Amino acid sequence: MGLSDLFANFTPRVPFTKEPIDETEEVEEYDKGARIYIWPLYKHFVWKVMKRGIRRGWALDIGTGTGLLPLELAKVKNSDLQVVGLDISDTMIHQARRNVERAKAEDRVHFIVASAAYLPFKDASLDIVASNASLHRWNEPVQGINEIERVTKPEGAIIMRDSRRLPPNLFWRAFQFLVTSFMNESHKEAWPQAVAAAYTIPEVNEILAKTRLRPWKVFIDLMFIDLCIESR
Ligand SMILES: C[S@@+](CC[C@H](N)C(=O)[O-])C[C@H]1O[C@@H](n2cnc3c(N)ncnc32)[C@H](O)[C@@H]1O
Repeated sequence: MGLSDLFANFTPRVPFTKEPIDETEEVEEYDKGARIYIWPLYKHFVWKVMKRGIRRGWALDIGTGTGLLPLELAKVKNSDLQVVGLDISDTMIHQARRNVERAKAEDRVHFIVASAAYLPFKDASLDIVASNASLHRWNEPVQGINEIERVTKPEGAIIMRDSRRLPPNLFWRAFQFLVTSFMNESHKEAWPQAVAAAYTIPEVNEILAKTRLRPWKVFIDLMFIDLCIESR
């Protein structure tokens, strides 16, 4: 029995019913909030990518939202990465393109509307495949991860992060109350739903075992509410 079995009293997963985030107002609110609450995580992501020593070639961010992670990747000094942000939501991609125009980064950052389940890239064509806070929303996580495995170069890097579902104990409720009190309406509503829809570490290992991805690591990283998947 592992340590996580001692804390196995998780409530069942509550998948998202409203997909994707598509209202313009909601997307704008998401964008404003993400620049504050998620920004440290984008920076941490960039640090992880740089630690892998990959400074040129093509990076893909799946479930990119308003494109803030691709923008951070494109800003790195002494790096020459071209970044593609991919999202299933037209409205998110519309806002992402506006953000890139404002940052004058169109020569480095590109966007496409597509699903994680059908990545429109050639086999072994990408140097980095990243994804933040999106896996819990994918209808076909096994297919999505098989697609990631297919498009990433053997010497490339796969770096994913998502929320982790937590047992509904007093500590978690107090933490959630504290954190959401600083959030705008969009994030205040969406974040607890994301945590309820997120996977536990054993559930992610079960998903990964059904995919072609080998080897993989699943671990808690920057924050205790995190779940990270890395490979290659
Ligand atoms: C919580 S947002 C995270 C956005 C961004 N990664 C960030 O960190 O700010 C989740 C994103 O995943 C996208 N998404 C959901 N299902 C998807 C799928 N199957 N394929 C691609 N994107 C998807 C949503 O449209 C949404 O933009």
